[in-house]
Amino acid sequence: MAQSAVPKASDPARPAAGKPGEGGAQGADLAEVRAQLREAYEAIEAIRSGDVDSLVIGAPGQEQIYALASADRPYRLIVAAMNEGAATISPRGIILDANPRLGAMTGQTGTQLAGTAVLDLVPSAHRPAFARLLDVGAGDSARGEVELSGPGGTTIPALLAVSGFDLDGMLLRCLVLTDLTAQRRAEAEVQTLNAELEVRVALRTAELERVNKNLEAFTYSVAHDLRTPLRALSGFSDALVEDYGDRLDETGRGYAGRIMAASERMATLIDDLLRLSRVSRAGMTLEPVDLSAEAAAVAGELRSGDPGRQVRFLIEEGIRGIADRSLIRTVLQNLLENAWKFTAHRDGAVIEFARAAGQDGMDGMVCCCVRDNGAGFDPAYASKLFHSFERLHDAAEFPGTGIGLASVARIIERHGGRTWADGAVGHGATFFFTLTAAGPA
Ligand SMILES: Nc1ncnc2c1ncn2[C@@H]1O[C@H](COP(=O)(O)OP(=O)(O)OP(=O)(O)O)[C@@H](O)[C@H]1O
Ligand SMILES: [Mg+2]
Repeated sequence: MAQSAVPKASDPARPAAGKPGEGGAQGADLAEVRAQLREAYEAIEAIRSGDVDSLVIGAPGQEQIYALASADRPYRLIVAAMNEGAATISPRGIILDANPRLGAMTGQTGTQLAGTAVLDLVPSAHRPAFARLLDVGAGDSARGEVELSGPGGTTIPALLAVSGFDLDGMLLRCLVLTDLTAQRRAEAEVQTLNAELEVRVALRTAELERVNKNLEAFTYSVAHDLRTPLRALSGFSDALVEDYGDRLDETGRGYAGRIMAASERMATLIDDLLRLSRVSRAGMTLEPVDLSAEAAAVAGELRSGDPGRQVRFLIEEGIRGIADRSLIRTVLQNLLENAWKFTAHRDGAVIEFARAAGQDGMDGMVCCCVRDNGAGFDPAYASKLFHSFERLHDAAEFPGTGIGLASVARIIERHGGRTWADGAVGHGATFFFTLTAAGPA
């Protein structure tokens, strides 16, 4: 839509001009009237030719836009129907035009707003920031959140989008204000709901911790109390064979032997249960730990415990995490012992302790893995392995009770980390865990 800023013919400050020879006040008046007529004629011509369809008229600070109703009627209807507040601002910051929505937001009508200072839309404390936002040149735009002065001393949060445009050398700015009240209310509701949820989660967690503690205590005392009758069982079957062995036939001695073997097995299970219970109950002292150094120490112990085996250890240096030193040592012991055990039948065994590419460093956590090229396992059962007494391999081939990985999972969980595993039958296994990362030493 073409627009034109018509010279302010009515401006009282405008100097009089006259034709030579017409001298005096009367001549000057005549020249002024002629100039006004010429300007009016030019304006009418411009409108008639279709070059111009709106005019800005008025003394500085009192400019008004006059537009041909036919020319911008659709635009006016759109602006009037908009759900956003809209206004046009003169170079001196006077509202030339405001739509009804802006009026409603500020407790006035659009007509009342016209002719007032745009800065009056916000409380005085916000005016400097508001003025900075409005300070855009022609063709520029800016966005920001503002607080509008609403009806009855209220404030209305709004998103302001301002753009500047040139109207025949005059910088006008167009404001669009979106009421954020509903959005803020929704945000506050979400915050309240989140806070409530956090309280509920905290209560549930506390309840779960209490139940877990009870369960741990129960497991501990049952396991502990089972030891005495078990000792009796094992001792008396021992005595039976020793003292009455000659009165038993082969089958009887076989039965007694089985009772002894079963009670030994049960003693191992009880010890393992107590081991698991201990890692769940042990107090924790968190500190930065050099995990690489701990892994190297465990590797050294494994080598010296079975010097006949040829195993290559690849230990990445400088992996550090925040952990309880003794508990994390138990984690590395279990994982490296497993790797050692499940590579027993493999030539060229390689056991690796390293950062896990892709996962490491996320959310401030260090992600480590213990990898081997041993027997491997069916990945479909990967998550089961971390449960107590879950084993995938025959105890005759690879001995164990199935409590090591459960301890690993419990310890890492207590440190706020995660555990998972990956493997393939005959192609080795990788066990991952995360811990809060520690900075360099
Ligand atoms: N490195 C590995 N390679 C292949 N399978 C593994 C590996 N580590 C663990 N597993 C599988 O997971 C099962 C559970 O491991 P976990 O360490 O809990 O028990 P375990 O080593 O059998 O006995 P324990 O550790 O209690 O002496 C193992 O029996 C085995 O089937
Ligand atoms: Mg194990």
